[in-house]
Amino acid sequence: MDSGISREDVLDRISTRIIGREVLYLPSVTSTMDVARKAATGGAVEGTVVVADRQTKGRARLGRAWINPPGVLAMSLIVHPEMSKLLRLTMMASLATSRCIERVAGLETSIKWPNDVLIRGKKVSGILTQSALRRQSVRWAIIGIGINVNFDPSAYPEIADTATSLSNELGTTVSQLDVLVCLIEELDELYVGLQKGEALHDDWRNRLETIGKIVRVTSGKRVIDGCAESVDGDGALMVRQLDGSLVQITAGDVTLRT
Ligand code: BTN
Repeated sequence: MDSGISREDVLDRISTRIIGREVLYLPSVTSTMDVARKAATGGAVEGTVVVADRQTKGRARLGRAWINPPGVLAMSLIVHPEMSKLLRLTMMASLATSRCIERVAGLETSIKWPNDVLIRGKKVSGILTQSALRRQSVRWAIIGIGINVNFDPSAYPEIADTATSLSNELGTTVSQLDVLVCLIEELDELYVGLQKGEALHDDWRNRLETIGKIVRVTSGKRVIDGCAESVDGDGALMVRQLDGSLVQITAGDVTLRT
């Protein structure tokens, strides 16, 4: 299914301050991350959004592949945050996505640490961030967001049990253009706020399904078992281990344990 998105349609519908200053639409790419990276190193303006209907080599966190059937909204966004704000981009992106889905589709969402957005416990969106540093400053950061808008997860065995889509939840298709416009608006509001020093932590934390649960976190070669007690200001997960010690985890995979 084609998204029906065009650069002109998006630009006509937004009046944001930073996000969406430029929009690049491509029918098919390897990954919007590749296109955004090339644009960022070539000096693309902050707020540039790259959106594609198809990705032949979509990427997920921790070196995994992102399954990208037609009907997935795939976008990457170039920003130039201060170094002190870099780690907060992940929180910002999952909060914006969660708010966007609730606004456009009226569906309740939760966030699985660090940044998967879920509906009724199933993944509807994934987020990947990458950055390039120069000495003590950020040259660019790219936030890649994939939202399952219009497809039937049961047709894809790899994700049939774990994923959902907006159309799957609603029983009707949803305009990908509406979702993209809303996502750009939510990202803009949060990014402008982030630059002014506004906190987004509380709203993000309140949406986290992980807090208070007994978890196993796999972070590189480390496996940490304990209770996910809280998150710090930058979004790191604080896990209380059985021996009483508190571990700060900045990246990894969480599974809930009973
Ligand atoms: C994850 O679930 O681990 C992150 C998935 C991120 C997918 C998006 S789709 C747009 C952008 N392009 C990619 O190749 N990946 C991100």
